[in-house]
Amino acid sequence: MPALLRLLLSLLLAAAAAPLAAVQAQPFRGYSYLLDCGGAAPTTDRRGLPWVPDDLYVSAGESLKLLDQGLLDPALSTRRVFPHSPSAKFCYEFPVDRKRRYLLRPTFFYGTYPPSSPPPVFDMIVDGTFWTAVNTTDDSLTGSASYYEGVFGASGRNMSFCLGVNPNYTDSGPFINALQVIQLHDSVYNATNFTNSAMGLIARTKFGSSGDAEKYPGDSFDRYWQPFLDSKHAVSSTHNVTSADFWNLPPPGVFNTALVAEQDAPLVLQWPPIHLQNDSYYVALYFADTLTENSRTFNVYINDYLFYEGLTVTSAGLSVFATQWILSGLTRVILTHVSGLPPLINAGEVFGLFPLGGYTFARDARALENIKRSLQNIPDDWNGDPCMPHGYAWSGVTCDKGLKPRVISL
Ligand SMILES: *[C@@H]1O[C@H](CO)[C@@H](O)[C@H](O)[C@H]1NC(C)=O
Ligand SMILES: *[C@@H]1O[C@H](CO)[C@@H](O)[C@H](O)[C@H]1NC(C)=O
Ligand SMILES: *[C@@H]1O[C@H](CO)[C@@H](O)[C@H](O)[C@H]1NC(C)=O
Ligand SMILES: *[C@@H]1O[C@H](CO)[C@@H](O)[C@H](O)[C@H]1NC(C)=O
Ligand SMILES: *[C@@H]1O[C@H](CO)[C@@H](O)[C@H](O)[C@H]1NC(C)=O
Ligand SMILES: *[C@@H]1O[C@H](CO)[C@@H](O)[C@H](O)[C@H]1NC(C)=O
Ligand SMILES: *[C@@H]1O[C@H](CO)[C@@H](O)[C@H](O)[C@H]1NC(C)=O
Repeated sequence: MPALLRLLLSLLLAAAAAPLAAVQAQPFRGYSYLLDCGGAAPTTDRRGLPWVPDDLYVSAGESLKLLDQGLLDPALSTRRVFPHSPSAKFCYEFPVDRKRRYLLRPTFFYGTYPPSSPPPVFDMIVDGTFWTAVNTTDDSLTGSASYYEGVFGASGRNMSFCLGVNPNYTDSGPFINALQVIQLHDSVYNATNFTNSAMGLIARTKFGSSGDAEKYPGDSFDRYWQPFLDSKHAVSSTHNVTSADFWNLPPPGVFNTALVAEQDAPLVLQWPPIHLQNDSYYVALYFADTLTENSRTFNVYINDYLFYEGLTVTSAGLSVFATQWILSGLTRVILTHVSGLPPLINAGEVFGLFPLGGYTFARDARALENIKRSLQNIPDDWNGDPCMPHGYAWSGVTCDKGLKPRVISL
């Protein structure tokens, strides 16, 4: 399991005078959800994105208002807090298109806390698959929210996103402030086989920029492209790039800046800026010449291994990617000159890959759904997959340990 980086989301300071962007009813295509967890009424954020309360999609938990109101993005100012029931998972369920894949971005903001009671640590689960543990301790200390991002293929009519009360490290109930679920275009990350794996974001970066992260509406799926400045090498583009036919549909804005090598020297980047576990990763890099009607050719190395030889980058731009590239420890991306002007790079993404966990034997899952429908008082953790992941079966249900687990007792 690759280490999954917690990315910082700096709190949006609610500048009282900032005008609201025009409200847009349908910003994303298909099945997409912007859930304000614990919220009481629909709100619109400063980008004009409409958020709705989460109670239509979840049955457990209670709403809690944060004390430091006024400082927060409206979607973060409340959270839903789930009971502390060891080994229970509490699930959101939302209708999806089973042939498509989805970006999931849960956001957690605990607020200030006394040193004696740090925020709870808990697990995230999508359908039957363990995703990663949520630990907001360090971010809370710096007053930041924590977000995680994953890409998952749908496998049924509903997708479930759950918080698991891991008995090994939690002594209070899990919580969540916001959950985004955005349907991706079929061509985005389509080289990964989502029937047997999923991806967890490690870094998504626009190079040579010091401004704000690039998000919606620049990025049609509200992916966050974080700035990465190295002022010695930063340049701005002299033209606009149309990226509508690029693999993965990067937002055109990431091509406004780049990092460029000095004459006769390679460009060496330490990126992503964290230690990675020895594992295979999805790596995509994006390039466009910053001058009009120009092109340059260079080699791309990642940690001394040739990633792409003789890459010719034109003003129109292109992306290159590897679906399974072994990385370990700190990563260096090195661009070496072949011909034309010095090499440059505009943007990049790295994801960890992890295998799907499987699902309860379908007939048993259907039988449990029928039992659930006949019950008056449904246990509040009876959502999501009944048996999976192992250790997180519905309360009162015992399952075997098979690949498609069967229910043994009830
Ligand atoms: C699918 O999700 C919706 C919305 O949360 C829920 O009302 C419905 O019961 C779910 N269907 C199943 C079979 O779980
Ligand atoms: C808790 O720790 C034990 C022992 O390390 C492990 O077997 C078990 O899977 C863990 N439980 C969860 C839910 O991660
Ligand atoms: C959560 O993170 C904090 C700070 O990095 C660390 O001290 C703590 O051990 C972590 N908790 C768990 C359960 O991993
Ligand atoms: C992925 O999408 C690209 C761009 O639309 C397309 O050219 C390619 O054939 C697709 N690949 C797969 C494996 O579906
Ligand atoms: C994806 O993986 C599944 C299960 O391993 C396999 O049956 C299928 O052929 C794979 N699809 C592609 C396009 O490789
Ligand atoms: C690029 O597009 C922006 C916004 O549409 C426009 O303001 C700018 O003038 C364009 N730049 C060039 C060099 O065409
Ligand atoms: C990473 O793992 C692979 C295969 O498991 C192994 O061959 C390689 O030596 C490992 N690399 C490092 C740096 O540990």
